[in-house]
Amino acid sequence: MDKAIVQKIEKVVGKDGYSTKTADLYTYGFDASIFHRTPDIVIQPRSTEQVSEILKIANAARIPVVPRGAGTGLCGGAVPIEGGIVLDMSRMDKVLKVSPADLWVDVQAGVVYNDLNKVLDEYGFFFPCSPGSAEACQIGGMVALNASGMKAVKYGATRDYVLGLTFVKADGEIVRAGTRTIKDSSGYQLARLMCGSEGTLGVITEVTLKLAAKPKGSASALVAFDDVHDAGRFVSALIARPLIPASCELMDSVSISAVNKSQGNPLPDCEALCIVEVDGEPEQIERDLRTVQEVAKENGATEITATHDKKQIAAWTSARKSVMTSLSALKPGYSSVSLADDMAVPVSKIPDAVSAYQKIAEKYGVTVATYGHASDGNLHTKMLLNPVDKDEWDRGVKAVEEIFDATIALGGTVTGEHGVGISKAPSFQKERASALSSIIAIKKAMDPNNILNPGKLQQWEGSILTNLRYPCEEYM
Ligand code: LAC
Ligand code: ZN
Repeated sequence: MDKAIVQKIEKVVGKDGYSTKTADLYTYGFDASIFHRTPDIVIQPRSTEQVSEILKIANAARIPVVPRGAGTGLCGGAVPIEGGIVLDMSRMDKVLKVSPADLWVDVQAGVVYNDLNKVLDEYGFFFPCSPGSAEACQIGGMVALNASGMKAVKYGATRDYVLGLTFVKADGEIVRAGTRTIKDSSGYQLARLMCGSEGTLGVITEVTLKLAAKPKGSASALVAFDDVHDAGRFVSALIARPLIPASCELMDSVSISAVNKSQGNPLPDCEALCIVEVDGEPEQIERDLRTVQEVAKENGATEITATHDKKQIAAWTSARKSVMTSLSALKPGYSSVSLADDMAVPVSKIPDAVSAYQKIAEKYGVTVATYGHASDGNLHTKMLLNPVDKDEWDRGVKAVEEIFDATIALGGTVTGEHGVGISKAPSFQKERASALSSIIAIKKAMDPNNILNPGKLQQWEGSILTNLRYPCEEYM
């Protein structure tokens, strides 16, 4: 990077506020996706004003800027594919103010999800989105991706909690959007526009989140099936009852075997299972557990274990959370890769989606594990590939394209909670075809020089097998 630019940056953030060291740059070229590209500089701002000054410098010099939270994203959203600046927000990590009487909390973008909940717990509140990366992921990144997780069916996704936020536009202007009121009909909902913007419209620096009251208690049931379609039918029957669980996680046989193999058999050996959590007042929990058992029996459950035991519930949750890493241990030489990873379909279409994904996996001879937050229709499929084998990637990408097409045909979306980034960009463009010209116009208006996370989402062109992080020479 040009020395004069680095000097200007140093004036804003100081000597310890940036790095151009080779090892740092290489590291910041990764997120949790399949991609990698080394940036030219990493900057760690400490305030909204510093972000603003950095963007003024970048905008004048037309340098790409990629905002980054914890780098836990699975789709390449934080990988700087055109080089330039990675803006690491992790030093803006303060919970600024909790206002229980007004039902909001103000945070800086770099606050870690679990750290926020530790603070809110003291007041009897929580931020319920429960992403898989709760220990590390940051609020700014969650807003930028509209992230969620296990509890979205009952408690919603990040966007449902964003009352307002502060962001910095590409030209350095600081914008306060939204309010600190529960209701707000004051024109364009700009704070909402930033949800899912993936760093392409502005840099989110502070967020006002609505608080949710913690439920009095919870209990869980593990329901086993000998057919994954029964599990899918069980989930939609449960919702239709109506019973809105706090969470309902489905796992297919590939996911169950992987976890049992690598984690010492924490789960029953079956074709499919659902772990259902219900929460609320004690009487409601008991009533809901009985309903879960009834609906499970009506839909072919082979085994039902209900429990209030916190240790048992934690063990099931940890088993479920370990699917992604366990899959890499299933087949020597193979890795679990995030290609099609978080499609969402209408809940009643879960059995159809599972059948379609299985058929596609067979057609292309790839191992696909299906699991996820079934009660909100959000399914994860992880693919097992030998990541140094070009043929495997080629087959994988074809399978993924068909998985996305099948999802769209079922009335779904290619991403329920992880965002578009790179890996879903071509299918996102298909899915949102009728909105693309509006999306492009918004991007042009907010970032006319195209410096913010360029080349992603609607701007992506070509094969997604570019900038692979794996040593597969053809695609590096
Ligand atoms: C999960 C992440 C991958 O649900 O979203 O495990
Ligand atoms: Zn998930």
